[in-house]
Amino acid sequence: MTGHGGPGAGVGGPVTRPNAPEPPAEPALDVLLEAAPVRAGARGGRPPGPIARRYGGPLAIPLRPHRPTVIANFVESLDGIVALATGPRGGGSDISGSSEADRFVMALLRTVADVVVVGAGTVRAAPRHEWTPAGISPAWAPACEEWRASMRLAPQPTTVVVTSAGDVDPGHPGLSAPGVPVVIATTVAGARALTARGIPPGARVEVLVEEGPLTGTALRGLLSRLHVRLALCEGGPHLLADLLADDALDELFLTLAPQILGRASAFTRLGLAEGHAWEPGSAHWARLGSVRRGDSHLFLRYSLRRGSGDGHGRPPSR
Ligand SMILES: NC(=O)c1ccc[n+]([C@@H]2O[C@H](COP(=O)([O-])OP(=O)(O)OC[C@H]3O[C@@H](n4cnc5c(N)ncnc54)[C@H](OP(=O)(O)O)[C@@H]3O)[C@@H](O)[C@H]2O)c1
Repeated sequence: MTGHGGPGAGVGGPVTRPNAPEPPAEPALDVLLEAAPVRAGARGGRPPGPIARRYGGPLAIPLRPHRPTVIANFVESLDGIVALATGPRGGGSDISGSSEADRFVMALLRTVADVVVVGAGTVRAAPRHEWTPAGISPAWAPACEEWRASMRLAPQPTTVVVTSAGDVDPGHPGLSAPGVPVVIATTVAGARALTARGIPPGARVEVLVEEGPLTGTALRGLLSRLHVRLALCEGGPHLLADLLADDALDELFLTLAPQILGRASAFTRLGLAEGHAWEPGSAHWARLGSVRRGDSHLFLRYSLRRGSGDGHGRPPSR
């Protein structure tokens, strides 16, 4: 990982770009609820003017004082589907309908994060994608870059790929993009497979366990060693469920796309969390922090914390 302070630290000071393109003149998101606290020490806060106008105010993520904070961002259909299949089609953009507002929010979350964490299945499903603000919304990239610099973050978030098998294409362009650090978190066998197949140039391999899957606790340990304060998990659903299973998720940013996709048979289409199931008494209840609307898409923000006794982790009283 990069020198002092890890991926969260880096070049500082605002960037002035006299020739930077104007961000798109899209209407502001409607703020229907804003109950997420803006506390001192949170990551983010008030973004540069164009972003604040479009988002409808500040975006601040409270940071845990003694460990990395982990948030996730997904889009799902009205009937809870996040992927039509595990292959290259049927992922996030088919679910969101390539919503510009969804890409804007994704770019903002990548902007405030030190690292973007993705499972190898998500990487395989997106063979050309780059997990940076510019990779999801080139039009907003200059404003995002300016905001990152003002937060004194590294120019780009580090991409962290999670794989047991080490089945990662060494030629994936998003894993060798200039200036984007890459860490591959894997197992002993995964590291062997990566070495045999080839490692994306510049990527660093971190062996966390003998055998997979990597637990949320092991991943959080890696994030701590990398001095990460804020990690953004962009899925997929198997990785998200593994994080939830270890109570390693602090917040969920969930876009609800106004389409109903249905399921003709079990297991063909994926829900938000796959590979683990919880009974009603032990399920992960969340607290709604904010709601925004862009056309008929809803942008929901939830905090998750089990066993805190303050309403998290318990069903709401009726
Ligand atoms: N709607 C959305 O917001 C959204 C977001 C993300 C992804 N998606 C879609 O979801 C689909 C992929 O779903 P998925 O559940 O297969 O995605 P995934 O969780 O990224 O992929 C599963 C694979 O990732 C690796 N992996 C995940 N968790 C791991 C862990 N704890 N330890 C070790 N390895 C781990 C393993 O790779 P190895 O096999 O290499 O060991 C596993 O086979 C794609 O279609 C994608 O486009 C949708």
